[in-house]
Amino acid sequence: MTMTLDQAQALDAADPLAFARARFRLPDGVIYLDGNSLGALPAATPGALAEVAERQWGDDLITSWNRHGWIDAPGRVAALLAPIVGAAPDELLFADSTSVTLFKLLAAAVQARPGRSVILSEDGNFPTDLHVAQGLARLVPSLTLKTVPAGNVASAIDGDTAVVMLTHVDYRGGAVHDMASVNSAAHAAGALTLWDLSHSAGALALDLAGSGCDLAVGCGYKYLNGGPGAPAFLFVAKPLQEQLHSPLSGWMGHAEPFAFEPAHRPAAGIARFLTGTPPILALAALEAGLATFDGIAMADLEAKSRALSQVFISEVEARCGGEVRLASPAARGSHVAFAHPHAYAVMQALIARGVIGDVRAPDLLRFGFAPLYNRFAEIWRAAEILGDILATREWDQPRFHQRAKVT
Ligand SMILES: Cc1ncc(COP(=O)(O)O)c(C=O)c1O
Repeated sequence: MTMTLDQAQALDAADPLAFARARFRLPDGVIYLDGNSLGALPAATPGALAEVAERQWGDDLITSWNRHGWIDAPGRVAALLAPIVGAAPDELLFADSTSVTLFKLLAAAVQARPGRSVILSEDGNFPTDLHVAQGLARLVPSLTLKTVPAGNVASAIDGDTAVVMLTHVDYRGGAVHDMASVNSAAHAAGALTLWDLSHSAGALALDLAGSGCDLAVGCGYKYLNGGPGAPAFLFVAKPLQEQLHSPLSGWMGHAEPFAFEPAHRPAAGIARFLTGTPPILALAALEAGLATFDGIAMADLEAKSRALSQVFISEVEARCGGEVRLASPAARGSHVAFAHPHAYAVMQALIARGVIGDVRAPDLLRFGFAPLYNRFAEIWRAAEILGDILATREWDQPRFHQRAKVT
């Protein structure tokens, strides 16, 4: 054991972000370590949803598009994201799902690099990213998806690379790509970069502008606390916006949607990447989710993420070192994975004891640390409970081996 509960509580008492926990509604008796998959419910969200549903939709009906600014919601909500990811407000939008926004930006990037035939990615990228690229390659016969091991990406970029598509923080062990160096290697070869920031935005201090990113997407429902199925964000660096064309050109990305012109004329700037009618209820929840970052310095957030995961790793290794193997590198995002041959059953036993994480095939126990609401004392306690479950083999009961659809 490397720390006492008193010491963990002292870290909470000294935590400059401790006040943010009150911005969330977390059930008593639960230690929630899955904010990297679905952010916790912000305390303000139910009220925000009720306001939009009952007063705006209910009372003001369709006039709300103008009266309550529904029509501007994708950009207005995205402006709240700007300081969180280090971009300008007019470089961001919320629209569609992560997979769909990825398709849009990937196709736009490929089209902007005619004569180049390769989308370059890594073997272990998140499956939907690879699936989207495979789908695009089927549509465009001259295009291929080339994947290489994570460490070989920079050296695989060449004059045939149209776009380098990577997930910044790996969804399994949390390994982080060096964004700035991949961007500069890609630019030196004339290629574009497209980052999936699903496991980074809202957990790490990002500087999309300063690190030379061209394009990015990411989930709204993880660390951004937008709620299940929240719209995704997309980022297009300012100088590229007029050069790129969305393949899903729709009326909301038209220069004048209500001119009802038959021919598509893209809007100026980032708005051209919209396709259809924005999901107003989902955007209301997302707006409340992003408000949980008000007044938060991202450097403090990243420092706390680091400290939480370090405490967890030390405690788990001290208590269960022989039973689990750390599967996360030192350069990692805000989640940590430990391998165990019966990871699924172990996680079900943890959940039954009120510690919620998740599992990634084949054998990873995954624990996410959301610095806005996780506390050092609960991290400490989670490690203690894991140690107990492993020592007693509490996980080895038939009920914990029954697999559900979502892991
Ligand atoms: C890296 C990454 N990209 C994309 C997704 C999901 O995309 P979508 O929101 O389209 O389901 C996830 C989901 O966990 C993810 O981890």
